[in-house]
Amino acid sequence: MLINLSGATKVFCRGTDHEVRALDQVDLGIEPAEMIAITGPSGSGKSTLLHVLSGLEGLTEGQYFFDGIDFSTLKDKDICKIRSERIAMIMQEFGLLTYEDILTNVCLPQIIQGIYGKEIKEKAKEELKKVGLSGIKKKPIFQLSGGQKQRVAIARALTMDAEVILADEPTGALDSENTKELMNLFQKINEQGVTILIVTHDPLVAAACPKEYHIIDGKLSLVRSK
Ligand SMILES: Nc1ncnc2c1ncn2[C@@H]1O[C@H](COP(=O)(O)OP(=O)(O)O)[C@@H](O)[C@H]1O
Ligand SMILES: [Mg+2]
Repeated sequence: MLINLSGATKVFCRGTDHEVRALDQVDLGIEPAEMIAITGPSGSGKSTLLHVLSGLEGLTEGQYFFDGIDFSTLKDKDICKIRSERIAMIMQEFGLLTYEDILTNVCLPQIIQGIYGKEIKEKAKEELKKVGLSGIKKKPIFQLSGGQKQRVAIARALTMDAEVILADEPTGALDSENTKELMNLFQKINEQGVTILIVTHDPLVAAACPKEYHIIDGKLSLVRSK
């Protein structure tokens, strides 16, 4: 099993008036190459779940194993290494450098991984071709539409050749045409063996995933599995 959460609980502001159980006894097992949607209302714990899976947040209780590795036993720098090599995260706000151009943004993960030389740009250009942005790679991010920014974020994630892509509401800023295109792209990537988790409000996006979970008040349950 690639991802295994058991009894995973995340409490914010413990012992205060603002205490929140963002994740409450979550059990979740994910095999390699699955494609999963996670739906749920605002504030239900969706982003927290992705942050835990990427190692950005630790658990208050319970366990998280990634490919058999217990994350609670790792040092921060080891978690960072796994995150930079094996887990790509597409953030809700894209996490792009607004005043840099597309190509520079897409090159970043490889630079962080310590790769040198012209292969960085070659890889970035290859992924920009897949998302249809080759023609405008020198444009700064602030001049792009929501859909274009989303595709930059995806191209950047693809340069990592990660085993897992965690996408937080990736179609939130897209119209239905762009949503369809993006889901086709995710399906193609998934067919190549990449595990994909998509947090979404959109029933069409969820329907395009073979498996769907729902989360309410931090409690996760399986909706369907094709
Ligand atoms: N860093 C934080 N500190 C305190 N509370 C947080 C933090 N992150 C999330 N929360 C709370 O945890 C709950 C779940 O948040 P989140 O996972 O962002 O929900 P969703 O992504 O489903 O909208 C919310 O009540 C939110 O306010
Ligand atoms: Mg969220």
